[in-house]
Amino acid sequence: MFPGPTLEIKNGDTLEVQVVNKGRYNVTIHWHGVRQMRTGWADGPEFVTQCPIRPGGSYTYRFTVQGQEGTLWWHAHSSWLRATVYGALIIRPREGKSYPFPKPKRETPIILGEWWDANPIDVVREATRTGAAPNVSDAYTINAQPGDLYKCSSKETTVVPIDSGETNLLRVINAALNQPLFFKVANHKLTVVGADASYTKPFTTSVLMLGPGQTTDVLIRGDQPPSRYYMAARAYQSAQNAPFDNTTTTAILEYKSASCAAKKCNAPTPIMPSLPAYNDTNTVTTFSQSFRSLEKAEVPTDLDESLFFTIGLGLNKCPPNFRKRRCQGPNGTRFTASMNNVSFVLPRNFSLLQAHQQGIPGVFTTDFPANPPLKFDYTGNVSRSLFQPVPGTKLYKLKYGSRVQIVLQDTSIVTPENHPIHLHGYDFYIIAQGFGNFDPKKDTSKFNLVDPPLRNTVGVPVNGWAVIRFVADNPGVWIMHCHLDVHINWGLAMAFLVENGVGELQTIQPPPPDLPIC
Ligand code: C2O
Repeated sequence: MFPGPTLEIKNGDTLEVQVVNKGRYNVTIHWHGVRQMRTGWADGPEFVTQCPIRPGGSYTYRFTVQGQEGTLWWHAHSSWLRATVYGALIIRPREGKSYPFPKPKRETPIILGEWWDANPIDVVREATRTGAAPNVSDAYTINAQPGDLYKCSSKETTVVPIDSGETNLLRVINAALNQPLFFKVANHKLTVVGADASYTKPFTTSVLMLGPGQTTDVLIRGDQPPSRYYMAARAYQSAQNAPFDNTTTTAILEYKSASCAAKKCNAPTPIMPSLPAYNDTNTVTTFSQSFRSLEKAEVPTDLDESLFFTIGLGLNKCPPNFRKRRCQGPNGTRFTASMNNVSFVLPRNFSLLQAHQQGIPGVFTTDFPANPPLKFDYTGNVSRSLFQPVPGTKLYKLKYGSRVQIVLQDTSIVTPENHPIHLHGYDFYIIAQGFGNFDPKKDTSKFNLVDPPLRNTVGVPVNGWAVIRFVADNPGVWIMHCHLDVHINWGLAMAFLVENGVGELQTIQPPPPDLPIC
């Protein structure tokens, strides 16, 4: 199935999912946003918490979803396989409990994706070989359909039903590989009620922006003249400011009385929303600063760890032993990416979690730096040679229960971008974000310690920074990475090693017997 099956569960449910690899490639499945309390073996990123499931092999993921409600999703976490291997994970309230908003008449997952007219594995392999940027995708999609503005697929365009006066809950997921996306429905307002499986104070907007990995739950009301309206997604911050019909995917919001499914009639041409321009950062700022947690936020104070991580791309000089065709980045370089100048490299023979648990030496080190090796003006005309990221498998060790703050600072080297930074095994509070260089003297006054949103993926503003906080109460090895997959390839990642605490309830469970080994 494409998209894959929707999993519908309740808060508190335990899941058992047997994954059988019937494909040609190694694969793993990640349950994006599920906290995996003490069940890190079920998290899924390859070579981080498990070795891949080989073709013909299988692995059963067992975990409990607790204290999270709303929309998450699952996806392959191996090379670029998540381009097509993904689906929605819907978490409803426990039996007898209800949503903190009026029950909608319908609920519809809206999964935004990206499609290549090629094998995505070949696309990323080619990029790794040449050092150049990979080919951009050929279409964006909504629920696996590009929509009828592309020439190929009018009949299969996704149709979302609505009735006059009724409310529909759209569970919007950005599953695109490399592209933050705007999302809008013509003539209709959207009321945001949740994001990343945490409820938010409701706010109304005409447009959403989601970075890859993020989800947003919105209520939409059938309060317009019965007709057909496009819902559309288009690139934010795309290098490819390509012509309109190459960058916009559509589905159709269809009022029942305007439907021609049963009768033979000419359905009215859907009304098109006007989407923001690809570089409309103001709209993104207004939108992302509207989020407030609904429940009382428990933001950690009295910090044990105050970290400052730079995130960004780099261009590495061509190594002397490399041929020219392997250095096809700008000016004969190779693209790279890093956090605090370390370009993350995954191990090959053990997963990080296994190496940690079994005390296998030589797989990783725990000297990931708490600060960048040098600070500079990230807004200035940054010299591209300033950072020559060094490859490494470096983890940062956290004591069980430590209260952590991380400033994530975009370096703007090579190109300023909105990096969707995702942390596995945790939700974190986004207590502030802004532009330019983070200033510890001035910017702390902007911290929201009262009702900041709780999320698993933060879009670090273009040319800017974001500050997140969490309590390290989940022992294991947890990767934090940019959710633009090409950036993972280039090394925009690191991992935390969270030590066990005291007693069984603060200790990671033993590995399951069928855990794949390398
Ligand atoms: Cu949704 Cu590590 O990813």
